[in-house]
Amino acid sequence: MTLDKTLLYEGKAKKIYSISGKPDLYIQEFKDDATAFNGLKKDKISNKGVMNTEITTLIFNYLISNSIPTHFVEKISENEMIVKKVDIIKVEVVCRNIAAGSLVKKFGFKEGLVLENPIVEYYLKSDELGDPLFTEGHIFALGLATAEEMEFIKSLTLKINGLLKKYFLDRKIKLVDFKLEFGKDTQGNIILADEISPDTCRFWDSETNEKMDKDRFRFDLGKVEDAYLEIKNRLSK
Ligand code: TMP
Repeated sequence: MTLDKTLLYEGKAKKIYSISGKPDLYIQEFKDDATAFNGLKKDKISNKGVMNTEITTLIFNYLISNSIPTHFVEKISENEMIVKKVDIIKVEVVCRNIAAGSLVKKFGFKEGLVLENPIVEYYLKSDELGDPLFTEGHIFALGLATAEEMEFIKSLTLKINGLLKKYFLDRKIKLVDFKLEFGKDTQGNIILADEISPDTCRFWDSETNEKMDKDRFRFDLGKVEDAYLEIKNRLSK
């Protein structure tokens, strides 16, 4: 497909383009670049863009088939997809099923503790401030979303969590935690946006608890590409 595209935004792992003659659509391109700890650690993970494009496509298609509203339209090349144009809500929504990452580091949870109920947390989407943890009170005070919108976002997040936990467990993967971003489409509807991939989730093998996600990059555990490829292969079956 040849589309006349203009770069609008380049983030740490993706680029967003507008498309000439298609005011309601964007192209989302996945890069091989990887960063961690708010950009302090930087490298490339070979073939990550291609693997995350395929993984995000598989997951978004599954969510769409289960009535979750998302920005995904279609995959158009090995590292690009067409998505609906959205205004991103500057709140990163993290949902946790098993204690890991900052829950262990900041709050003293024991890694691997299975949480009785999922924890939903909000982080301000700001590279400058290092994405601080914040509350609904801060979100309302900053005018980032209304109480009704946050209620919708939280219930959609929990519904997505239920769907994804089952989807991954069927593929012998524990969904430890993940990060979602939501946006408003041109009609004002709140829809799931961004990506869902080993960059934005923690995945553990359901039998061995082996880490199969970006923690392998963050903590120099080795076999980073192999882990992403294994996730892609298990989801493709
Ligand atoms: P955390 O335990 O480091 O707070 O991460 C929670 C989840 O959110 C984990 O699955 C990784 C994901 N995440 C992102 O997608 N982007 C980020 O910037 C951070 C810090 C975490």
